[in-house]
Amino acid sequence: MSAKGESWGSRVGLILAMAGNAVGLGNFLRFPVQAVQNGGGAFIIPYLVCFLVMGIPLLFIEWSTGRYGGRYGNHSTPYILDTMAKGRIWKYIGVFGIFTNIAVASYYCYIESWTMSYVYHSIVGTFNELDQTQITDFFNRYTTIGKNTTGIPYESVIFYVVCLLLNTYILSKGLGGIEKVAKIGVPLLLLFGGILAVRGLTLGTDGASEMFPNANAWDGLNFLWTPQYDSLTNPKVWLAAAGQIFFTISVGMGTVHCYAAYLKSKDDIALNAVSAGFMNEFVEVVLGSLIVIPIAAGYLGLDWILQNASFGMAFQTMPYLFQQWGGVLATLAGVFWFGLLFFAGITSSLAMGTPWMGFMRDEFNWSGKKGAWSFGLIALIVGLPTVFFYNQGVFDEYDYWAGTVSLVVFAFLETVLFAWIFGIKKGWAEINMGADIKVPIIFKYMIVTVTPLLLGWVLFASIPDMFNKVTNKDTNNKEWFADAYYAENFDSEGKKSGVVEAVDDSSIKLSFTNE
Ligand code: PHE
Ligand code: NA
Repeated sequence: MSAKGESWGSRVGLILAMAGNAVGLGNFLRFPVQAVQNGGGAFIIPYLVCFLVMGIPLLFIEWSTGRYGGRYGNHSTPYILDTMAKGRIWKYIGVFGIFTNIAVASYYCYIESWTMSYVYHSIVGTFNELDQTQITDFFNRYTTIGKNTTGIPYESVIFYVVCLLLNTYILSKGLGGIEKVAKIGVPLLLLFGGILAVRGLTLGTDGASEMFPNANAWDGLNFLWTPQYDSLTNPKVWLAAAGQIFFTISVGMGTVHCYAAYLKSKDDIALNAVSAGFMNEFVEVVLGSLIVIPIAAGYLGLDWILQNASFGMAFQTMPYLFQQWGGVLATLAGVFWFGLLFFAGITSSLAMGTPWMGFMRDEFNWSGKKGAWSFGLIALIVGLPTVFFYNQGVFDEYDYWAGTVSLVVFAFLETVLFAWIFGIKKGWAEINMGADIKVPIIFKYMIVTVTPLLLGWVLFASIPDMFNKVTNKDTNNKEWFADAYYAENFDSEGKKSGVVEAVDDSSIKLSFTNE
């Protein structure tokens, strides 16, 4: 960030920047995958509980922490936490948050770069006349470096670098640049997201079923939304749910601190925090579950989704859907959908650059330019392994450790700091200062008890899971849930029966016989 006295241009600008920060690829691509991998309806209950008892409280904590630190002229998590408590340890914890940002930004920008590339390929007509297998194949080639046969050598690397350059350039322009991108990107994203969601809903047994006789959009929605209670005691599901909540509302790594540091003491934070949080949840739970899953289920069937759930799912399916719309409409749909994913992505990845830049400014008095370019360079170095070894699972490792575990750890620590060290008395006053709404008092008690306890439990209970990750003994949730789901929902109706064909530590194969 550049000039000293910088602040948000307007309240609308602030809200859109914060909403842009929250609404991202997490809503459209990560949420459906997390939901599917953790049992669909089995995931939803822990997910909603986490939003209410950890998500909302953490939003209050981060907004007020940021505004508080900003009052003392600080713009980065380490310095902001330092104003709240004595002891260098908090500064180091803040630095840990910055590392999380860099790690997440590095793989996040890789997906963001796919969206740029897919806009390009929609325009030049690469997807025209391709069938579903060819579309899937295109994606697989695109993400296998060295095997690129998309015409441009090292295409995915090139788009990745371009994407980082663009982020860096906008960041070097300071807060105003971020605000401008959000003002364009967020409204557009909502508009086209709405259109596609309607399309996802109406993809029933009609047209799609002629091409894929066993596929149905509603299978996808049923799977997502049929609650399953047996997962409630599974810590793995809770960790995934908490991780997704933090990831999607952008807490647990300090971006909200940095944005809120540019607020004035009299500015509202309570209503703003809640609005940004609920807006994000609307986009995630409604738009996020109505697009990729039902559309993929509509064209490829639930079996395919259960076996292929990943960030890439939308890239492997949506171009084919658009081809069915034909001609100019196909091109336009491709441009808008991937373009809007791009806007969702960039308004979030920009946020991930601000903690590093703020820290360089607080610590070394670096200019916004220097901060931005150094950030871009570091993200590039950290990110290249995910680009080159995408298909070897490196990507998922980054997303697990940086995008899930680290967020929960950081959220736990900052809640303890806020509630018990800074003190809830001061903290509660800080949340309510300038507030445009009366924050229900229950949140005050939650922040001191339920929020840190649940966070602590999730972390503690997940230690075996983390251990298995390290020792590579990971067992796959997908297999277990898919099996249970099919046993429950299909055998009994006599429509389909499924067996788990082969299972090893890292992969599953399911085979289904249709009757
Ligand atoms: N919330 C963003 C998304 O859903 C990702 C993000 C996480 C952005 C953390 C900033 C900080 O895509
Ligand atoms: Na989000």
